Amino acid sequence: MSYLLGIDVGTTGTRALIIDERGAPVGSHATDYPLSTPRPNWAEQDPHHWWDATVASVRTALAVAGIGGDAIAGVGLSGQMHGSVFLDEADEVIRPALLWCDQRTARQCAWITETVGADDVVGETLNPVLTGFQAPKIIWLRDEEPENYSRLRRVLLPKDYVRLRLTGEYATEVSDASGTSLLNVPRRRWSSLMLERLELPEEWLPAVYESQEVSGAITARAAALTGLAEGTPVVGGGGDQAAGAVGNGIVRTGVVSVSTGTSGVVFAHLDEPVVDEQLRTHTFCHAVPGKWHVMGVMLSAGGSLRWMRDELCPAEIEVAAQTGVDAYELMTAEAAHAPVGSEGLVFLPYLTGERTPYPNPNARGVFFGLSLRHGRPHMIRALLEGVAYGLRDSLQIIEAMGVEITQVRASGGGARSPLWRQIQTDVTGHPHSTINVDEGPAYGAALLAGVGAGLYGSVVEACGATIRTVDTPTVDETAHRLYAGYHRLYQQLYRQLEGSFDAAAELVAAGEA
Ligand code: XUL
Repeated sequence: MSYLLGIDVGTTGTRALIIDERGAPVGSHATDYPLSTPRPNWAEQDPHHWWDATVASVRTALAVAGIGGDAIAGVGLSGQMHGSVFLDEADEVIRPALLWCDQRTARQCAWITETVGADDVVGETLNPVLTGFQAPKIIWLRDEEPENYSRLRRVLLPKDYVRLRLTGEYATEVSDASGTSLLNVPRRRWSSLMLERLELPEEWLPAVYESQEVSGAITARAAALTGLAEGTPVVGGGGDQAAGAVGNGIVRTGVVSVSTGTSGVVFAHLDEPVVDEQLRTHTFCHAVPGKWHVMGVMLSAGGSLRWMRDELCPAEIEVAAQTGVDAYELMTAEAAHAPVGSEGLVFLPYLTGERTPYPNPNARGVFFGLSLRHGRPHMIRALLEGVAYGLRDSLQIIEAMGVEITQVRASGGGARSPLWRQIQTDVTGHPHSTINVDEGPAYGAALLAGVGAGLYGSVVEACGATIRTVDTPTVDETAHRLYAGYHRLYQQLYRQLEGSFDAAAELVAAGEA
């Protein structure tokens, strides 16, 4: 029996997952690391933590699976997208990596857009330049840390730094590279136009592969550290969203995924690249060769619930510690006591700014409509509903682009809560089904490795052999009608508060100065 390894270099930790050739998970392990926010709007991580966590997770996953490294036919990488690993001449990390959720680069985004020209940016990359993306981070280093910039020789995405340590190769793949603002997304190669106009040398960037292509092999040194066998092929893999979509079987038109992890993402496969006229969604290369995808990205979905757990639910955390029941389960059980619409309490989940549908780093979280009747059950339910309204925003934009939606598949931590999945179902009007595997991006990365290693003929075949839906809820039409009104109110609140978000940001900046 052959096995496949998927490694997901996430925001909270790195997870290694081993599956057998039929797609059954046989061993996994996750190793967590911190995220540092040295200033408001900043989010950084030390790339060495990703590598150490990869080594620990792979070793433990092999032990859990009870197999030796030589049984692994291929390795696939996935990870948090958009981050910037800055390396010097000797491949030493120059400074902590700026992450996808870092919002410091508004000025650099404007500069890039003006320097390249807004039409050319969209023509080449199919997207606007957004604060989280990689190119503005490079320009930020140039503007703010010239000494570090003068040492810069390579820029890698998070999972590709781990690839460098595993294989010694500077390589990436099309799906993750799409989120740099430096890839020509229609042509699936680096954009000479973007690079020339920004005066960035292409030598700084890694070679670009398709997601299933072999990008290198495990080195003797990495083998000694991880327990993998030297020479094991490592495929391109995918950014966490594209790899996660492969792991959910989103590899043909009609089937759409809604995933609620830290971020909340609505993801649809595209046979040809299509762009939202208002650029509210991202159009990126898919991990399926020669295909694209569109996605709407909310920055704080499960992240909002985590914030509420940590800041407002000490009692639930304590009960969870005593009983072993998950604190989120306790919270959603409370939310079930509040009615549909939370009696007029509406939550805007913009705790770290937003991308879809409002690319606005200044947007902030809001509870609207608090009254003496409202208790914690209402607040938790309103939060779950607010995230679902945001997901509905993305689904509506994607449908308006002419993308057909015949099935919605739920994934991520949020999919594990039956209440949250029912709320999402009733808010969007689409049943949010679950599938037989819930292993996230690492699973898709492992399937991609299976294609690269020749165990499956194609990505579509790999998904067909391993993934099926298991539970499809029913839309409660009464709740759906009520939620339609609340969704309009939710949209109206953002429009009315937009100026106030900017005013608040200015006041915060003045306070820091
Ligand atoms: C996608 C995105 C997030 C990060 C972290 O565009 O920003 O999914 O990859 O998960």
